[in-house]
Order: sequence, then C-alpha cells, then structure tokens
Amino acid sequence: MKTRLAGMVIAMACFALGCGGVAAQTQTQQGEYLVRAGGCMSCHTADPARPFAGGRPIATPFGNVFAPNITSDRETGIGAWTDAQFIRAMREGIGRNGERLYPAFPYTAYTLLTDADLLAMRAYLATVPPVRAPTPRNTLSFPFDQRWLMALWNLVGFSPGRFVPDRSKSAEWNRGAYLVEGLGHCGECHTPRNWVGALKQSERLTGATVAGWRAGNLTPARVAGIGAWRDDELLRFLSTGAAPGRAYALGPMAEVVSTSTQFLTPADLRAMIAYLRAVPPVEVKDVRVRTSFGQATRTDITALDSDGARLYAAACASCHGMTGEGGGPFPPLVHDGVTGALGSATTNNLVLVILHGVNRRTRDAHALMPAFDAQLSDEQIAELGNFITRQFGDPRATTDAKAVARLRSTTQ
Ligand code: HEC
Ligand code: HEC
Ligand code: HEC
Repeated sequence: MKTRLAGMVIAMACFALGCGGVAAQTQTQQGEYLVRAGGCMSCHTADPARPFAGGRPIATPFGNVFAPNITSDRETGIGAWTDAQFIRAMREGIGRNGERLYPAFPYTAYTLLTDADLLAMRAYLATVPPVRAPTPRNTLSFPFDQRWLMALWNLVGFSPGRFVPDRSKSAEWNRGAYLVEGLGHCGECHTPRNWVGALKQSERLTGATVAGWRAGNLTPARVAGIGAWRDDELLRFLSTGAAPGRAYALGPMAEVVSTSTQFLTPADLRAMIAYLRAVPPVEVKDVRVRTSFGQATRTDITALDSDGARLYAAACASCHGMTGEGGGPFPPLVHDGVTGALGSATTNNLVLVILHGVNRRTRDAHALMPAFDAQLSDEQIAELGNFITRQFGDPRATTDAKAVARLRSTTQ
C-alpha cells in the first residue's frame, strides 16, 4: 500500500502547490479507473449502448443470476442508495434491503477493497447516466432460488475482511496482491471450485472452467502455468489480448482484456505480474509443453481425405493457412502456445472458439474471427476439432458431438 500512500501524498502536494502541468486525478476519475480494474462493466452490461444497465445472465451450476442495473437511476439502478449500502453490498454481499446477494457477484473478492477505493467507485457510478431497466428474474432452481440460503453459503464460502498489506513484501507485490485477489478477482475464473461453488483456496489460481472455457493455470509453474512466459509477454497479453507464441485472449478473457486490463497502467500490470510470479507454482501431472505438439501439414490439406480436413480447408484455411501456419493478424494453429485451445488435454476452448469466434476490441486493434455456430452442426464441429488436434495440437485431446452440444448450450 506504500505506493498508494505515496501517490496520495504527491496528489495532495500537487493540489497544494499546483504541480505545473500535472493534473491531479479527481475522485471520479480514480473511480472510473477502479471500476475498470474491477471489471464491473462486463457483467453489468447486456447492451453496449446502455453501459451498467444490467440484464446480463451470469451462468452458475444452479441456473442463471442476472446482473442488476447499477446506473444512477433512482428506481431501477443504485442512484438512491447510500454510500453505506453500496459499501455493504460490495464487501458483504448484502443488498439494499438486507437481502443476501449471490456470489455470482464477486463480493467474495471485493471484500478486500479499501473505503477510499469504494467511495471513489461510488462517485464514478453516480455520474453514469441513469437508465431505466428493471433486472430480469433469476432462473435458479430450487433450493438455490432461496436467497437466505446464501447466509449458510457464506459460512463456508466467504471470508470477509479488508486487504492487509504484508510488510515483509515489496510495495509492488502488495499492490499486485490487492489487484489480483481483490479488484481484478482473477481467481473467480482461474481457481477451481468445490461442490458448493466456493473457491478451493488450496488450489488458488491453478486453473478452472468458466462458462465452458478452460481458464489456465496462472501459477509460475513452467509447464502447466505461466512460468515460461516472459514479463513482456504477460504485459502484452493483459494490455492487448494477443501474446503471439503464448496465447490469445478468448471468450471471457477477451472481455476481461477489452473492458478491464487494457486500461490499467503499466505499473499496475507489472505489479500484478510480480504478484503472480510469487504464488506457489503448481504443476499438473501429465501436462506437456503446449508448443511440443503438432506440425504443419506439409501437403496440401485438400489432398487429405477426411471430412475434418475438408471442413478445415473450406472454413478455416483462408485465415489460418492451408498448412495451419497463420499469417498477419491470424494466429498459427501449429506450435502455438494456444491457451488450452490446442495443445491442451481438453478441447473446450477450441470448440468454443469455433462456435463463437473472436470479437475482441482494444484501443488499437479489433481481433475478429467469425462465429460458426450457425454454419456448422455439432457433428461437423467434432469432426473438425478432432482433425485440428490430431494435425496441429495434442492428439490425445478429442471431442464428440455430444460434448459440442453441451458447450453450445452453455450460457456465454
Ligand atoms: C462476475 C460478474 C460480476 C462482476 C464482475 C460484478 N458484478 Fe456486481 N453483481 C453481479 C450479479 C450477478 C449481481 C446480483 C446478485 C444477486 O442478484 O444476488 C450483482 C450485484 C451488484 C450490486 C447490488 C445491486 C442490487 O441491485 O442489489 C452492486 C452494487 C454491484 N453488483 C456492483 C458492482 C461493481 C461496482 C462491480 C465492479 C467492481 C461489480 N458489481 C462487478 C455480477 C457481477
Ligand atoms: C471472467 C473470467 C476470467 C477472469 C475474471 C479472468 N480470466 Fe484470465 N482467462 C479466462 C479464460 C476463460 C482464459 C482462457 C481463454 C483464453 O485463451 O484467453 C483465460 C486466460 C488467461 C491467461 C492466458 C494464460 C493461459 O494459458 O490460461 C492469462 C495470463 C490470464 N487469463 C490472466 C488473468 C488475470 C491476470 C486475471 C485477473 C486480472 C484474469 N485472467 C481474470 C477467464 C478469466
Ligand atoms: C476471417 C478469418 C478467420 C477465419 C475464417 C477463422 N479464423 Fe480462427 N482466428 C482468427 C482471428 C483473427 C483469431 C484471433 C486472433 C487474436 O486473438 O488476436 C482467431 C483465433 C483462433 C483460435 C485461437 C488461437 C489461439 O492461439 O488461441 C483458434 C483455435 C482458431 N481461430 C481456430 C479456427 C478454426 C478451427 C476455424 C475454422 C472453423 C477458424 N479459426 C476460422 C481468424 C479467423
């Protein structure tokens, strides 16, 4: 927390002395930055034209929970909430009228946030134009539709409490811990859950499945995790979504990059990376270096006599190349560090990227791959997926039409 204090001291000194040309950030500007770092936008926005107006279903194993309207609208948003009610919701998961909120809202991570940060976020949200939009009803099955049950869940799944800086660690590490564990809630997707849906703290950041996607191991394990990535590759991944040779931000991670991490300062991103580098590395049995798989087709793919090869030639080769080597903005499918899409023991990400494509906007790029969900049947995607992992990826990873159908019906 030392850097934050230093920042505040500098900001206050500037306020008093009027540092020439250096504009001190207002509370609202700080709040906007923190709301971005907290990733509030992606869950609380269903229609990009109405930011923060809610209505997006968040999938849980028990049904969908809709993210509510958090614009400044007094009736359907949070315009009429007091600061204390806002802080209580963010840190304790308790709604305006004392009702229990579902942990599909990551208050379990935001509980670490400081008063100053929450008040700044509140100040920014108060400037978000009001949108009248009542929140749709959740589609949870009994007994999970009973909110009071969350009081019991909290006993096992939630440890409330502010972030406590570790004085034996550097200011950078502490800032990174606050961002990764608190605001950025990276573990909500990258940490596996137990049968009640609570994060398994003993397996923190070792990788998990979210909305069907495989979110990788973020520990510094060299083979299974990010241990072999260079700092500049991680920085590039979080700020642009593309780290050629390592991974591309797909599905939920594409949203994290485009709505959140791309806006973080290099200093904050470096702090997150420094923190991730220091968590205990967890290797996973039977994982091989992703780049050790696959080979470019030396022959013309159209000469290969299989449905998978024909589908690849027709639907994919125009961008990823006849030999799978890609080119320009189109990633190679061979020898690429594909995040679980290829070279991983599961084909989830490969199937999901075929179904939904890529549509990731950042300040300087728009990565676009068409979605094939309407063009290709479950059988065709399975055929194609098996061809691709056999040819370019981990040949042990296979899929079938049933698995494709299951992923197709997963709420994104
Ligand atoms: C992973 C998705 C997700 C993220 C990220 C998220 N929220 Fe939410 N939020 C939800 C859901 C879902 C609910 C509703 C929970 C319920 O109905 O019990 C909710 C509820 C809330 C509520 C209570 C509103 C009400 O009407 O009861 C507030 C306030 C809120 N979120 C603010 C935020 C802020 C600020 C951020 C960013 C720091 C944020 N949320 C990030 C999913 C999310
Ligand atoms: C909403 C869920 C979600 C959140 C929150 C999230 N991630 Fe991810 N992340 C994913 C998924 C899914 C993938 C795998 C898909 C892909 O290739 O991008 C992924 C991939 C990654 C990768 C690529 C490495 C690999 O092989 O898996 C890195 C690095 C990463 N995330 C870092 C982070 C960090 C740091 C945070 C916190 C700021 C974070 N993620 C938050 C879902 C999430
Ligand atoms: C119009 C061009 C285009 C077509 C056609 C296309 N892709 Fe892509 N593909 C892309 C782009 C662009 C990306 C994302 C690059 C990025 O994230 O920066 C991508 C990403 C991918 C990834 C993730 C790569 C990684 O390393 O994580 C896979 C896997 C993939 N495509 C497979 C396919 C398959 C299979 C087909 C055929 C069904 C296909 N693509 C068709 C352009 C295309």
